[in-house]
Amino acid sequence: MEEKKKVMLSGIQPSGDLHLGNYLGAIKNWAARAEEFDCYYFMADLHTITVRQEPAELRRRTLQQLAQYIACGLDPEKNTLFVQSHVPAHAQLGWVLECYTMFGELSRMTQFKDKSAKHQDNINAGLFTYPSLMAADILLYKPDLVPVGEDQKQHVELTRKVAERFNNLYGEVFTVPEPYIPKAGARIYGLTTPGDKMSKSVPEGCVFLMDKPEVIAKKFKRAVTDSDRENCVRYDKANKPGVANLMDIYAAVTGKTHEEIEKEFEGQGYGVFKPAVGEAVIETFRPIREEAERLIADKSYLESVYRDGAAKASRVANKTLAKVYKKVGFLQP
Ligand code: TYM
Repeated sequence: MEEKKKVMLSGIQPSGDLHLGNYLGAIKNWAARAEEFDCYYFMADLHTITVRQEPAELRRRTLQQLAQYIACGLDPEKNTLFVQSHVPAHAQLGWVLECYTMFGELSRMTQFKDKSAKHQDNINAGLFTYPSLMAADILLYKPDLVPVGEDQKQHVELTRKVAERFNNLYGEVFTVPEPYIPKAGARIYGLTTPGDKMSKSVPEGCVFLMDKPEVIAKKFKRAVTDSDRENCVRYDKANKPGVANLMDIYAAVTGKTHEEIEKEFEGQGYGVFKPAVGEAVIETFRPIREEAERLIADKSYLESVYRDGAAKASRVANKTLAKVYKKVGFLQP
């Protein structure tokens, strides 16, 4: 008998164009595991409306994100790729899990605190209950592993808690998932703000997957290094956060260790190091950008991928949802 494959699942919000942080923290670690795991990856569009979106832009980015997933090596034949809002079970289980997530737990979420500080005119209920929806995204597919960057670890931990709470009440309904955080690239900082994680909200310090080579080169040339005058490539996160971030990026794209990088640039200053990191990123992104551009032009192919993906994801998700509905006592329709 064929052994059941382990399951892996993750998602990204199409609230902005994909960037180097998303790539190194998440996607890069997805593509390599298609043979070993049964994989589900989605565009988390339901989550994006916790912050106001321009509708036409959201549609464009959702489709573009699918093209980028495929261009990053996620073969639709081997991975289930879908749009979250196409699988209603996410919203349905999301509601149930809101009733099993505590107010105090949601209040402690760093992402909620950050985003509510940033969008004070729109601290809506969805922004607050977002982690319950994310728990639903995950638990519907019973994944063993959830590969994410470090900033999402807290949400995956809350998911584990909610799953355990539910299982304690009703028996083994959910698999309790493990977060999978990469060793290199788990937290990439902005090139101009090495104290804050790289994010689309500071575009000049954010390297987008679709940026042209000359744009990427310029962003790296302007990257903040450090305020001391040492001009030496040395890994010291506390005193040289900008340099450490560039070394982390270089390590993640080349596979080199920090020691190897220090040796490679020994005796050479930031004037050599910064463009070299830029060049390494340009070469990593070039084939991805070109393939994504080709795929974006083929809208009917992308539509067939997300339609098939939603059909397959729905089959799995609806099974879990039916079980949950039964357990909590809803009358069978
Ligand atoms: P999101 O859309 O903010 O980010 C998507 C993925 O990219 C990672 N990431 C980073 N990694 C390293 N350095 C950075 N600067 C950086 N910025 C982003 C994130 O950790 C994440 O892995 N709530 C999630 C989306 C989501 C989800 C899910 C993820 C919804 N449902 C279910 C996993 C499972 C989010 O907002 O990620």
